[in-house]
Parts: sequence; structure tokens; C-alpha cells
Amino acid sequence: MPIPRLNKEIREIAARKGAVILAHNYQLPEVQDVADFVGDSLELSIKAGETKAEIIIFCGVNFMAETAAIISPQKKVLIPDYTAGCPMANMINAENVRELKRQHPGAKVVCYVNSTAAVKAESDICCTSANAVKVVNSLKDTEEIIFIPDKNLGSYVQSKVPKKKFIIWEGFCPTHARILKDDIYRAKDKHSQAKVMVHPECRPEVIALADLVASTSGMSKFARETEAKEIIIGTEVGMLYRLQKENPDKNFYPASSQAICPNMKLTTLDKIFWSLQDLVYPVVVEEPIRSRAKMAIERMIALSKQD
Ligand code: 13P
Ligand code: SF4
Repeated sequence: MPIPRLNKEIREIAARKGAVILAHNYQLPEVQDVADFVGDSLELSIKAGETKAEIIIFCGVNFMAETAAIISPQKKVLIPDYTAGCPMANMINAENVRELKRQHPGAKVVCYVNSTAAVKAESDICCTSANAVKVVNSLKDTEEIIFIPDKNLGSYVQSKVPKKKFIIWEGFCPTHARILKDDIYRAKDKHSQAKVMVHPECRPEVIALADLVASTSGMSKFARETEAKEIIIGTEVGMLYRLQKENPDKNFYPASSQAICPNMKLTTLDKIFWSLQDLVYPVVVEEPIRSRAKMAIERMIALSKQD
């Protein structure tokens, strides 16, 4: 079926069933276009908690849909492709976290939302790339931070909060690891006037070359507000669609065209349609993990709503 027709059918069935469609900034262009709301991980968790809709179609990867299911167990959270995982989330498990806590009994565990529910359940507070520095700064009576699972976000936050001692897990995003510092040099040679925006999941040597380090929605805000007409983007390439759509008078260049997250591309319009039609695939997090993970997520959301 052609995209405009499928888009119309999806909107009709979503309205009939009272479903809201949430999509991450890395989703395919046609998926972003059919969604009610497109955002970064933090915004999507907040939306999932606030929506009045009974059904949430989550166009993203598993940990994001799981977060929505943890916050809103009374709602039906559906993921159009249940194989859409995040390799970084699988680089640590709950026993690894328990072992870290045994080794560092005075430390607080800050867990990037790119993690499983079982890992969140072992953590004190969650963070996303949009609020990680704020989350760590909020832990005023703690000197030691166990930061899991992303080593690049962890070392970036550590550079912003040098007074605390960090124990950082060695996880990473294979997609952002593809962006190399030579890619930034090459892009800057080609576009000498361009600003450089990168995601904190990038390698430290890439982050060191950036004018702005931000979450995907932080990038979108900067792109709207800056005077710059050209920007080099160091993150998953799906981000460029939204940036270009919102800023038609500006030019955006991917730092590397290799930075594609295959899991983010698994969601298609066909799968969204089937998901709505057959109410598949439900994402449910069992107790007691759900309640324990919820505490860590809610502490983060409460903090993000302050000021
Ligand atoms: P954001 O929260 O910045 O959208 O990042 C999510 C993600 O998975 C980045 O790879
Ligand atoms: Fe996970 Fe990286 Fe894909 Fe984000 S881009 S979902 S961190 S693999």
C-alpha cells in the first residue's frame, strides 16, 4: 500500500481504538510522520505517563516500550516489532549490578534508561542523555556514583561533575561507536562554517570536538534556536529527518552515514498497522521488578519536572 494511504488508515484505526502513537527521533521518516508525538527517551517516558489514551503504540526499541509499561501498567503498551532491542541494554544484567553494589556499598546507582527493567530495579535512579548531569548532581549526600551501562555517557557526566567518584560500567552503543573523530574532521573540512552537535553516547574523542553535546531533542532545540545555518550531526542518521523537516532553511550533514541503528529501523508502517489491528505485541513487566524499576524512573521524572 502506498505510504499516504497507509498513513491515513493508521490514523483512522488509531482514532477508532483510542490509541496514541509515540515515536523516537531515530524512527523512519514515515513512522515519525504518522506518530502523535516524536521525541527523545525522556520526553517519551513523560508522554507515556501523561497520556489519557488506553493504548500506546511504541515505535522505538524494547527498553523504551518497557519504560512506558513500567510507568503505566493499566495501559496496553504495544511494540510493533518485539525484536527491536538495544545492544547496549544487554551489556549488563541485574547480577552485575548487585555485584557492583556489594563492591561499593556507599555508592548510589545511576542507570541510563537504555537498560532492562531488571537492571533498573536494582538502581537508585534512572537518567537519560537529556538529564544525566542533573540526576548525578541531585545526589548531594553521595560521593560515589555507580554509572551503568554506558561508559561514554558516564565519562561525559563525570567530566561535568568532577567532585564525585565514578565507577563506570563498560557498555557502549555500537551505532554511536561507528562515528570516529576523523569523520568529524572530514565533515568540518567540507563544511567549514558548520557547528558540530553530537550525542553523549559518542566516543570521548568525538565529544571533545563538538560545539554541543545533547540528547536527540536537545539537538532539535539547538537547531531551532541557533543562528548557524549548517550543522554536522554526530548521532544516528534518523535524527536528520526531523532536523531538516523543522528547519528547511538550514543544512544538516551526518558525521557518518554508517551510524544507523538497525533496531530502530525495524518499525515500519505495515507493522504499526498490524499492531493496531491485532493489538500486538504487548509489553508487560512482571512484579516485583516493575514496582522497583518504577521507583528509579519516577525519581528521574520528578527531577525533570522541577524548574
Ligand atoms: P535520546 O534519549 O537522546 O533520544 O537517546 C536515546 C538513544 O537510544 C540514543 O542512542
Ligand atoms: Fe541502543 Fe544505540 Fe540503537 Fe540507541 S542507537 S537504541 S543506544 S543501539
